Amino acid sequence: MNTLTHKKMILGITGSIAAYKSADLVRRLREQGADVRVVMTAAATKFITPLTLQAVSGQRVHIHLLDVHAEAAMGHIELARWAEVVLIAPCSADFLAKLTYGQADDLLSTLCLATTAPISVAPAMNQQMWQAPITQENCQRLQQRGLKILGPTSGSQACGETGIGRMLDPLELVHCLQDLFQSGPLQGKKVLITAGPTREDIDPVRFISNRSSGRMGYAIAEAALAQGAQVTLVSGPVSLSPPSGVHKVSVYSAQDMYEAVMTYIPTTDIFIAVAAVADYRPVQQATQKLKKNEAHLQLNLERTPDILATVANLPTPPFTVGFAAETHHLADYAHSKLKHKKLDMIVANLVGIEGIGFESEDNALSIFWNGGSIELPRKSKKELANQLLEIIIERFLRVCS
Ligand code: CTP
Repeated sequence: MNTLTHKKMILGITGSIAAYKSADLVRRLREQGADVRVVMTAAATKFITPLTLQAVSGQRVHIHLLDVHAEAAMGHIELARWAEVVLIAPCSADFLAKLTYGQADDLLSTLCLATTAPISVAPAMNQQMWQAPITQENCQRLQQRGLKILGPTSGSQACGETGIGRMLDPLELVHCLQDLFQSGPLQGKKVLITAGPTREDIDPVRFISNRSSGRMGYAIAEAALAQGAQVTLVSGPVSLSPPSGVHKVSVYSAQDMYEAVMTYIPTTDIFIAVAAVADYRPVQQATQKLKKNEAHLQLNLERTPDILATVANLPTPPFTVGFAAETHHLADYAHSKLKHKKLDMIVANLVGIEGIGFESEDNALSIFWNGGSIELPRKSKKELANQLLEIIIERFLRVCS
């Protein structure tokens, strides 16, 4: 059965030019069998008429909080209780801020406070407004509270600018909602994944890093989401967008990554360390740019915290999966890391080979656990991620049930 069939859904529409897409969104949701009630903010009615939404939803549109007739028919508390899911699309920067601070000065914001239904928001705004640190901070806080942020995506904007801030298309939003209700073997489980490189500053303009693109980690995050997990992705600097529905935490250095992982680990069921974490960092970071005064320059480096080993050696560790990027003696090194770091599983791949590994679309994996191993020959990182997840789930259910 379609996961949206008979789902009681409130579609909140706020003041953004993307509101013109909401009529199509209502149609798409109804095509999937959802029972949609539209709630509009006053600003939304300036962009699209309630009459249009009434026509496409086949239901009365709710706008005012203190409307005697509306309250007599289906008041805001009944509406909040009725909903099985709330989608706010488009969600303006102003409404994101309202949600973050728990304001309740109109019907939609009051509903969001009064409902226990899961809330998803599809931001739509000018790219500068989206990038504003306060907007990003608000999104992070909402995600920490369990709200799903769907999009936005990049492209040309109504204001004439180009960048990230466009609302996802109605069909994409429908797919995101379907994924939310998808049940899978990891339903109710929390998966924490590290991805990408870290950067260790030498001075204000130079750093030590590596060639990790983050692709493998991002593909694994998407695969875990598809299996029903709640996914947090702690990512070093990469040029990838996280799959929608994944909670991304951006970090810079190994120390930042360590701190972010330790914040989420107490509630994590499965930890997958895909990141290529720098093993060493400069002991001192120059506050001013280093000048080339000498013929030779010696950098004094110290070890960074081993995030994977720390997690695996906790008193009650989650199911822990490590990665090993090797140029030679793959199986020997992988076995040794499995044992010494006390991992449940290690995924090894060769690096330094044309077409696979770092910076490539493809990879080939050798997976080892205590008492078993499996080879996954060369494929796209997306395909490998799905296969790997199935193996992880099988071992996880065996070890942890
Ligand atoms: N890792 C980590 N923290 C570090 C270094 C590595 O969590 N400071 C994790 C990586 O995310 C990966 C695994 O450890 O899952 C293996 O990393 P790798 O660099 O291959 O192995 P190391 O143990 O660092 O050993 P070596 O570099 O000597 O091969």
